[in-house]
Amino acid sequence: MESPFKADIVKGKVALVTGGGSGIGYEISLQLGKHGASIAIMGRRKHVIDSAVAALHSQGVPAIGLEGDVRKDDDAARVVESTFKHFGRLDILVNAAAGNFLVPAEYLSPNGFQTVIDIDTVGTFRMCHKALKYLKKGGPGKDPSTGGAIINISAILHYGATWYQIHASAAKAAIDSVTRSLALEWGTDHDIRVNGIAPGAVDDTAGVTKLAPEEMLSKIKEKPLYKFGEKWDIAMAALYLASDAGKFVNGTVLVVDGGQWLSMPRL
Ligand code: HXC
Repeated sequence: MESPFKADIVKGKVALVTGGGSGIGYEISLQLGKHGASIAIMGRRKHVIDSAVAALHSQGVPAIGLEGDVRKDDDAARVVESTFKHFGRLDILVNAAAGNFLVPAEYLSPNGFQTVIDIDTVGTFRMCHKALKYLKKGGPGKDPSTGGAIINISAILHYGATWYQIHASAAKAAIDSVTRSLALEWGTDHDIRVNGIAPGAVDDTAGVTKLAPEEMLSKIKEKPLYKFGEKWDIAMAALYLASDAGKFVNGTVLVVDGGQWLSMPRL
């Protein structure tokens, strides 16, 4: 679908997208790139980021891939530094890296719970923390009049309760809280806007292929307002929040789910 935004709304900006090699993270990378940004994608799997970078190049998007795990402090620091070294600035950080699996709480080990918290919540905070010096107003390479933007991808899992995702629900709830706290502190101190996006079920992503039981899928498909979103819908929300269209928006979590959460819990 054609973008409703002008092609230059993030022209000259540099974005780092964790989990940018696939799914929602890739689509956000692509759309930021198609609207003028240069892109660094971070991911754990080299072959995934290599093919994502090749796909971005084929669409004319300046892009680099940086291997790394958001759970590792050294990886996070190296990826942020490499993005700055390569492009000379950093304006937008998108935290899209996530881990998840379906398991009844009774059978989830504390280490399994912690693994997802470490990837989603601590990983999000770690990347924000490492990127702060580049994103803040007056940071190296930046336009001196404005700070950057952070977008944290969460979910609607925790608005009610979601079966067999106690770990991811807790992790995503905490991400929304991190978004608000950073928006307050860094919006005030550093002119950085920090917002979130809470996607509902999005077609052709791990969130659906890996996590949604078949009976839930058929229910979603039955009802007009329960249809799947597209990755594009999430990327358009990211463009709004990253660009000047969202220049007075700080500390919000934009729900992009077609209204699914209104009737949660679903089953
Ligand atoms: C129960 C599991 C499990 C499973 C792992 N664990 N998978 N427990 N059921 N299916 C437990 C392990 O037993 C172990 O605990 C602990 O978790 C760590 O597992 P590892 O395999 O060592 O971890 P790691 O290799 O780092 O893998 C991370 C992962 C994995 C999160 C567990 O699934 C992953 O990396 N997935 C790729 C990314 C991904 O799934 N993305 C989906 C995003 S979708 P013990 O106690 O045995 O040591 C998404 C959408 C949210 O986020 C919104 C949905 C609508």
